[in-house]
Amino acid sequence: MPEPLRVGLAGLGTVGCAVYKLLTEKAEHVAARAGQAIRVQAVAARARDRDRGIDLTGVAWHDDPVELARSPDIDLFVELIGGEGDPAHAAVAAALDAGKPVVSANKALLAAHGVELARLAEDRGATIGFEAAVAGGIPIVKTLREAAAGNRVTRVYGILNGTCNYILTRMEEEGLSFEACLAEAQKLGYAEADPTFDIGGQDSAHKLALLSAVAFATAIDVDSIHLEGISSITTEDLEAAAELGYRIKLLGVARRTDTGIEQRVTPTMVPRNSAIAGVKGVLNAVAIDGDEIGEVMLVGPGAGGSATASAVVSDIVDVARGFRQPPFGIPATDLAPYRRARMRAHEGGYYIRLSLYDRPGAFAAIARRMAEQEISLESIVQKDGRAAQSQTPVARRVVLITHETTELQIRKALEAIESDNHIAAAPQMIRIEAP
Ligand code: HSE
Repeated sequence: MPEPLRVGLAGLGTVGCAVYKLLTEKAEHVAARAGQAIRVQAVAARARDRDRGIDLTGVAWHDDPVELARSPDIDLFVELIGGEGDPAHAAVAAALDAGKPVVSANKALLAAHGVELARLAEDRGATIGFEAAVAGGIPIVKTLREAAAGNRVTRVYGILNGTCNYILTRMEEEGLSFEACLAEAQKLGYAEADPTFDIGGQDSAHKLALLSAVAFATAIDVDSIHLEGISSITTEDLEAAAELGYRIKLLGVARRTDTGIEQRVTPTMVPRNSAIAGVKGVLNAVAIDGDEIGEVMLVGPGAGGSATASAVVSDIVDVARGFRQPPFGIPATDLAPYRRARMRAHEGGYYIRLSLYDRPGAFAAIARRMAEQEISLESIVQKDGRAAQSQTPVARRVVLITHETTELQIRKALEAIESDNHIAAAPQMIRIEAP
């Protein structure tokens, strides 16, 4: 066998330690697939004395990841530090600048600087593997880039954040509070260091931006993603969704339209009998619509040390085997400029929850406002009011499901409904995604 491939591993958190364990405990297994031994030659992390449950005897230590990235003693730099800026950015750029291949799980870094780094890699004859940056253990980047290369992809969508899926599942199935479910997800090691990135949808947006670039061969544009997190979702919405035959998921959806690429991360209703509705707990799912393959959906663990380490190691094996692909499928200089579709042109069905005063004419006013925007209603459900019972008139929960319409029409109808003073609180609006 040839000389070992010498890896420099920066970041010894949950994923970094899991990668180290996988490479050391399954060294023979990995070497057989890589065609050479993979040796962790050096590591960089913050606290040298912390007990991480791994034996680093014989492994060189660097306090500075940039210094590690430049070290002549490594052949490959693995970046598991996280974060969009330095030191992760500086370290990855330094490794690429030195012509060293990089493997990274850092979706924030790549969503912000992916094209620039891919250009640098191509310029220096290096590569960046980022399978672990999107949906943890699910091999979706390779599937889109390599296995589906013959397809014109029209849509890629999925459940891209395990923490949110875990929270929504637990809230729906156990009736637990949002806060209790979030605390559990943090304890289990799924959540980001700052969990507002999970809950607010930014983590999903980073992953969606990378998927879009690979799926549509366009530049990355994370800032154009329409973003809504899950904190506005109540148990009332989860119950109403169930009664109406739906389930609520935080979905990232990227779609090719006539006017450009639509990208959104929003709580979304999916039919209860669809495959994606059955994806529960910390699992992620990503579906691709391609003109040759139709729809393909991959389901698996999107977070956690072992699953993410599995993806990191797959990229390391590619490097060892000399498998070189442009990171986003085509050379970074050839990626088309990103053209954003107008969100207001989004077409689909909508779920609307209103807290409607129970008085003559209220229902008729809602129906009139919908009709003015030519919105057709699929179903209307009225429940006994739970809130404001002491008020006169009593407010009742009313849930509407619309047939397909545009976001512009829905927004205009909701503005008009709010101006009519028949509702006790701002309306809740959730988009419906057809599988
Ligand atoms: N915090 C992420 C999640 C894990 O919950 O899915 C990796 O991105």
